[in-house]
Amino acid sequence: MTTIALPTGRSLGDCVEILKGAGLPTENLSNAGRHLVVADGPFRYLLGKPTDIPTLVSQGAADLALVGNDVTDESEVDVTEILDTGRGKCFMAVAGTPETAVRFDGHVTNLMGLRVATKYVRTASRTFEEWGAQIRVLNLNGSVELAPALGLANCIFDIVQTGGTLKANGLVVIRRTAEVSLRLIANRSALQLRWSVLRETVDAIQKFVADATN
Ligand code: PRP
Repeated sequence: MTTIALPTGRSLGDCVEILKGAGLPTENLSNAGRHLVVADGPFRYLLGKPTDIPTLVSQGAADLALVGNDVTDESEVDVTEILDTGRGKCFMAVAGTPETAVRFDGHVTNLMGLRVATKYVRTASRTFEEWGAQIRVLNLNGSVELAPALGLANCIFDIVQTGGTLKANGLVVIRRTAEVSLRLIANRSALQLRWSVLRETVDAIQKFVADATN
């Protein structure tokens, strides 16, 4: 039995497509309803919140997982990234009002003390630190676009897919900071101890990804 953790929410559809494309059984997964553990042939799928996926893998509850690198970059847990599926593409960005965007045009000192709302506290802090700017982070767990409108923050650091949420809230991308896509990750010990079992699945996903990009 191989256990694969998958993120609920908007990435789940892409994950099912990848697994299906790789020839893994997905019939029960596609009809999971409210079930969080789904058995499909020799596979068991765990459905968790995106931010919990690295933990499920590092703790050994799952051998493998599909999850965005926005989540693994933010998480401090130890997992191994095996491959980039190239699916579920989006990007990380600093976004704000056009007025705030002007502060990013000049010297880095213009960014000192900037209030940044985000659910990616570590990644945001790291990114601004690399630019040499000391900022104040406001940790919100969702709907971060609210913060500039309410005067709680000057800008946000968030994931952007269609750009629809930014547009609807009068915000623009100020700096695109990283590309994001669904990655296949693994538990480090499972990779070593169960490679003979996991290999077929990893190879099948790799082949699907390679065929799709050629
Ligand atoms: C994410 C992100 C943005 C939105 C971007 O939130 O935080 O709010 O999606 O997508 P778009 O560019 O296609 O509009 P999500 O929908 O995951 O919910 P959340 O705000 O509760 O985190």
